[in-house]
Amino acid sequence: MARQRRIRHHVNPLGEKYAEPRAQRLSVPAHLGPHAQCDVELGCADAQFSFELARAHPDRLVVGLEIRERVAIWGQRLADAQALANLRIAYCNMNVDLDRVLAPQSVNRFHLLFPDPWFKPKHHKRRVIEAPLLAVLHSRLRAGGELHVASDVYEVALEVMAEIDGDPCSGFTNLSGPWRFCRDNPYGARSRREDTTHERGQRVWRLRWRVCE
Ligand SMILES: C[S@@+](CC[C@H](N)C(=O)[O-])C[C@H]1O[C@@H](n2cnc3c(N)ncnc32)[C@H](O)[C@@H]1O
Repeated sequence: MARQRRIRHHVNPLGEKYAEPRAQRLSVPAHLGPHAQCDVELGCADAQFSFELARAHPDRLVVGLEIRERVAIWGQRLADAQALANLRIAYCNMNVDLDRVLAPQSVNRFHLLFPDPWFKPKHHKRRVIEAPLLAVLHSRLRAGGELHVASDVYEVALEVMAEIDGDPCSGFTNLSGPWRFCRDNPYGARSRREDTTHERGQRVWRLRWRVCE
């Protein structure tokens, strides 16, 4: 009997295996054309949010990016099986090769939903969003584009807020006002982790920014 390989729940994005840039440039489905709006979910796991968004907006390109390659392959197969021609799920280590995957000024909205916090003491100094990643996100967003971050860990959300709202040169404007969280989810789609956070009766700490004109 063939042995099933286990899908890991966590990988170390700093590990050697993921340090080499190797993600492929995203190919935009021809039927959408180059000017279609584009939403990108970073660290999508089962991509529930991306699937819901793609179903609700067939005219948009929706992209789920995930570091666990087998999870990304599984997600793309599911999108194909459901004939969601506007949904792409692909491998990407967002800290290493996001700029290879996405063309400059090609994205309308980035969604970073429930990112893994850095638990190991030796990684404590590392933030979920650091200046190099923020610079790539900024360069890939179109004029008026949005960055949407949500977390169930208050400290993580606060760190992201400090990284962006605490830097007057970040190039982003908080849509709820400086140093403020956003109460509601205006996107009409929810990630798996958002559902479980609500089921546990916990709060989602949501932040939304727009690129400065
Ligand atoms: C806690 S899960 C959240 C999944 C989903 N966004 C949700 O809200 O249900 C975080 C996901 O980010 C992925 N991830 C962690 N670091 C990553 C990186 N550097 N690049 C891409 N994905 C990453 C993990 O593999 C995991 O699937």
